[in-house]
Parts: sequence; structure tokens; C-alpha cells
Amino acid sequence: MRIAVIGAGYVGLVAAACLSRSGHEVVCIEKDEGKLAELQDGRLPFYEAGLAEIFTAGVGKGSLHFSSEVAACLDAEVVMIAVGTPARPDGRIDLSQIYGAVSRIVEQARFPQLIVMKSTVPPGFGENLKARLLSRAGVPLTYLANPEFLREGSAVRDWYYPDRIVIGGDQELAVAKLARLYADIDAPVVTMDVGSAEMVKYAANAFLATKISFINEIANLCELVGADILPVARAVGMDRRIGGEFLQAGLGYGGSCFPKDTCGLDFVSTCNGYAFNLLKAVIEVNNRQRVLALRKLRGMLGTLHDKTVCVLGLAFKPGTDDIRESPALDIINLLLDEGVKIRVYDPLAMKNAQRLLPPEVYSASGTMAALEGCHALLVATAWPEFTGLDWTAVKELMRPPRLVLDGRNCLPAEEIIKNGLVYQGVGRPAKPENQPGNIILPKSDRTPFRCQVTRC
Ligand SMILES: NC(=O)c1ccc[n+]([C@@H]2O[C@H](COP(=O)([O-])OP(=O)(O)OC[C@H]3O[C@@H](n4cnc5c(N)ncnc54)[C@H](O)[C@@H]3O)[C@@H](O)[C@H]2O)c1
Repeated sequence: MRIAVIGAGYVGLVAAACLSRSGHEVVCIEKDEGKLAELQDGRLPFYEAGLAEIFTAGVGKGSLHFSSEVAACLDAEVVMIAVGTPARPDGRIDLSQIYGAVSRIVEQARFPQLIVMKSTVPPGFGENLKARLLSRAGVPLTYLANPEFLREGSAVRDWYYPDRIVIGGDQELAVAKLARLYADIDAPVVTMDVGSAEMVKYAANAFLATKISFINEIANLCELVGADILPVARAVGMDRRIGGEFLQAGLGYGGSCFPKDTCGLDFVSTCNGYAFNLLKAVIEVNNRQRVLALRKLRGMLGTLHDKTVCVLGLAFKPGTDDIRESPALDIINLLLDEGVKIRVYDPLAMKNAQRLLPPEVYSASGTMAALEGCHALLVATAWPEFTGLDWTAVKELMRPPRLVLDGRNCLPAEEIIKNGLVYQGVGRPAKPENQPGNIILPKSDRTPFRCQVTRC
């Protein structure tokens, strides 16, 4: 089949490369000149495990092409939309990239095409788009919702082994045609109307975000009552009705999806006159986890002014170079406001982070270089290479009080303490001889981050 994918981001490029590998003729359209130049030069604009091989093979055999022109998709039977749908500062969903892409297709379409929405859009959007825009095309354009559930860091694997494929649409033949596109993927295809398919994506992300905020609340309570979140979460997750994934306490979720999708769903609820109180709490708890980290550092270092803090891990999670909505960057900004000197290192995300971080943040060439002369270490991303550090050497490099704040509960606490450093995790029991105490944010504290949706 001839397929066009609009948007060469984490979703679009993975879809384009994997579909070309499945034997389809794929053109991927990207409007960012820098990204396009890299792609046409045979280089990936971001890191994603396993993608380089598939991309190189597709380009090599001539079944994967790149273009900046929407006109390049006019010969395709299927056009997949995989452009960004970021959040606006007030929590609204910015759909301008979609309108930009789709209006060009509507203007130029020459024969009937299947428009497949892989971008995450609010429930109701697809029907609206059909009525207001697609109906204006000179030829029939059939619309299907096909939300994407892949995760950065395991996107290629998730493409081939999804838990389900969701297709929303009211035209049976079109739905069957799209399902055939995924014929080599062994997963149930769940069909429904467009609005319901759109809701599945938001509901799934909101639920996963809820699990994370829930376990973070339990972790905060563990600190107060002297329990340990690690065995608690493990045993809770062993209940098959709950499941162990997304029960890791820490600095909260980040990335390009959960923050914007939870805020987006909250906004949709508000617009429909419904107060989604559970979701509001999930967002607030997530924002608070970042502030709690700052409070812990302040509580353990005394005054923060003129202290030096090393932040290891800038990507929003391990396995990616994506720093969008990364908790690490929010915490760094909070620390800079308090006059802290910051030294950072991340195995993959340094280039992306340097574009956002102010010049006074020192970008180190490696983990040990980042730790030199620091009073405290904050591990913000659970990269495997941070877990196996030589803690004797770390102690030599750091300055008292040599505090290790394990923001992802991924470090060997006992070994760190044995080496004479002060360890604090998230929801881990306080050890009076090693820890100055846990600080819990008062309920009245509100966080300085985006997405306090109050009106529509
Ligand atoms: N990143 C994820 O893990 C993930 C997972 C599931 C769903 N999603 C959803 O998929 C969508 C895409 O996410 P992403 O992370 O790949 O976004 P992204 O920002 O990484 O990539 C989007 C790309 O589309 C390009 N683009 C925008 N308008 C264009 C146009 N008119 N023509 C050509 N190119 C255009 C942009 O330049 C950008 O490169 C979003 O709605 C997101 O919520 C993302």
C-alpha cells in the first residue's frame, strides 16, 4: 500500500519506518527543515532503541522517503497524521499542527483517501474535523481515529507488540482496510466510533498517571509512618487486579504525553461542565512531587544558597533523549531560583537539555565529572549507569554533607550509607543516624507548574 505519514516525530517516524519494513511504500512528511535535512541525510533526529536499523533498511531499499511537501502525500491511499498536539499554558490542547496538515490535504486531494489520526486529540475532535473541514474536500476523505499507545524508549517494540489496536470509525470497509495494514501484528483490533477511540487514549493515559500519583501519595505517607514504599508497592502490584507497572514512586511523571494529556482531559471535562476531581488531584500530586524534592534538599542542606547540587539524569525517563516536561528540568529551575549552583549529566539527553538550560548550569562530560565538589546529588532519571557507581569514589568527589537524593528509588541505599554518604529516597524509611529527616509539603502549598484549569 502507498502510505503517507505526516510528522516525523517519535510516533510518525516509528510508524513510517515500521510500515516500510512491513512492505509498504511510505513517504514521511516533515516540515521542520533541520529534521528533514537529517532524515534525508540518513540520520535520525532523535534516539529510539532499534529504530536506526529499520530506518536505514527502509531508506536503503527505497521504500521509505522523506519530503517537506504535503503534496507528496496526494498519491497515498492512507494518510496518517502524527503531528504534535502540545498543551497550551492554560491546559488547552493546541491542535494547530493538525489543522495545518489536514487543511492542505483538503485543498489538494485528487482522489479518495483514508485519513488516519494517530495524534492524540480530544474526544469529539474527529467528528468536528469531519463536519467542518474534511467535508469541504473535492473528493471523499474518510476519517478514522487510530490512537497510538507506543512508549518512547520501547517504541519499536511497542509498535510490533501492542496490547491492542484501537480503530474508531463508522465505515466498515475503511476500518477493515486499516486493520489490514496491521495484519503482521499479533494484537486484538478493537473497533468503535471515533469519539470513543479518542477517549480510550485519554482514559488510558489518565489511568496510568493516576497509578503513578497514587503510589507517590502512598510513598509520602510511608515517610510519615516509617514504612518502606519498595516492598509496599511490590506487594500491592502483585495483586493481578492492580498490576505492578507504573507503581514506582519518585519525582512524578513527565514527557510529552502524560502531563499534556491529563491536563487536556481535565480541560475537556471543564468545558463539558464536569469537574474531574480525581484527575485534578493526580495532576496536583504530580506537580507536588517536584517541589517535595526541593523541600527535601532544603531540609537536609540547610540553606540552599551557594550550595552545589549535581543532577544526574535529564531525560524524562531512561531509554530516551526526550526532555519534554522532564521533572529534572523543573527541579533545576526551582533550585536555580534559590541560588544553587547546578552540575548536570545525562547519557543521552545532554544536547537537547543544553538548548533549554541556562548557561550557568555546568554540563559535565560524565557522571563522575558532574559530581565534583557537590554537596548533594539528585538522581532524577533511573539510567542503569547511575545505579552501579563506585560510591567510595563518589564520596571522595563530593563535599559534606554528601547527600544522595534518590528521586527514582533506583540506587543501592545500603551501600551508599555504608560508604558514609547520606541517603534519602522517596517513601523510604528514615534512618535517624543517616538522615536528617523527611520533609512533607504542607497541604496548602500549591505548585508553580502549568495546568490549573479553572475556566473554558
Ligand atoms: N511521543 C510519544 O511517546 C507518543 C505516544 C503516543 C501518542 N503520541 C501522540 O502522537 C502525536 C505525535 O507525538 P510525537 O511525540 O511524535 O510528536 P513530535 O513533536 O515528536 O513530532 C511531531 C512532528 O510533526 C511535525 N509537523 C507538525 N506539523 C507538520 C506538518 N504540517 N507537516 C509536516 N510535519 C509536521 C513537527 O515538525 C514534528 O517533527 C501527539 O499527538 C502525541 O500526543 C505520542
